[in-house]
Amino acid sequence: KIFNVVLSGGSGTRLWPLSRKNNPKQFLKIFNNLSLFQHTIDRNKELVNDFLLLTNKDQIKEANRQIKETSQNFKQVIIEPIGRNTAPAIALASLAVNPEDILFVTPCDHMITNNETYRACFGRAVELAKEDYLVTFGIKPEAPETGFGYIEHNDEDVVSFREKPDQKTATDFIKAGNFLWNSGMFCFKAGVFLEELRKYRKDIFETSVKAINSIENQIIDIDAMIAIPDESVDYAVFEKSDKIKTVPSNFEWTDLGTFDALINFNQKNQNSIDCISEVGGISTEGTFYLGNKKVYSLGVSDIIVVETDDCIVLLSKEKSQEIKKLHKLVENND
Ligand code: GDD
Ligand code: MG
Repeated sequence: KIFNVVLSGGSGTRLWPLSRKNNPKQFLKIFNNLSLFQHTIDRNKELVNDFLLLTNKDQIKEANRQIKETSQNFKQVIIEPIGRNTAPAIALASLAVNPEDILFVTPCDHMITNNETYRACFGRAVELAKEDYLVTFGIKPEAPETGFGYIEHNDEDVVSFREKPDQKTATDFIKAGNFLWNSGMFCFKAGVFLEELRKYRKDIFETSVKAINSIENQIIDIDAMIAIPDESVDYAVFEKSDKIKTVPSNFEWTDLGTFDALINFNQKNQNSIDCISEVGGISTEGTFYLGNKKVYSLGVSDIIVVETDDCIVLLSKEKSQEIKKLHKLVENND
């Protein structure tokens, strides 16, 4: 059986004030009236036999509501009382199925075009997973981003996996030309993943086994969860294992993590994001509004205006990456 393991953790601060703690960006219904979470389910439902969701208490209500709208059944939902990052989340998913089952692990906050290329890459990943490999999807890098993992590769063979390099290293990787971005999606047999986790992070493996046995009403026991070390799967397994393969992937893939990325995506895709408009007026350029009013300006350029029910945020376009700072300040003063 093939499962899509949908990971939905994250704090939802990068697109604040649009995204909130209990309504992070994957639940914003701004992509043709659907959320990235719902698009993820839509995109994968023809490819897999069943779904597993790993999420937390803040998100479960909205997740359930949105799952209902897609009328897709989930085999199981696992609620983590606190987040322990992706290595424990994927370990729990792997322990919840049979060792021979194949897991297609995906975030639910990316925009991906479901086309023939996507399906072909998925198909190839499943073939490699059946041969006991841990499969990554490698995206052709566009810039020396430091927020991604990098896969040094020779076609499908992986020479090394390097999570979140510093700026200089990332620039060297791009220059070298044989590095791909890690998309954050993985495909493998549950049993193979667990073997590798046990080999490299016995502590995470053993505490995860205890945690999966502590589930009551979908929720992991809080003490069992706290006992699991906090680590991302990229560091815990993918940087270490020698069973990694990659499927060089050229489907359209975007990590919509910032307002800038949202706006760029919207411009490239015929205004497919419902709430974004370019502000018109006089001597006004590069000014964008996210909300549902009409906005005009005179002599104001390169500003992003975000309006929600309870607040308005004005951002200089070049500082849109730093929204976290403002969010922190507001939170502390509230
Ligand atoms: N259930 C659960 N529990 N999900 C989690 C948790 C957790 O504790 N922590 C993170 N997630 C989910 C996030 O919501 C997201 O969908 C996914 O797991 C990946 O976590 P991120 O925190 O977004 O990771 P990242 O963006 O820093 O890095 C990963 O993704 C990049 C591509 O976007 C890595 O895999 C990188 O190598 C990769 O390039
Ligand atoms: Mg991410």
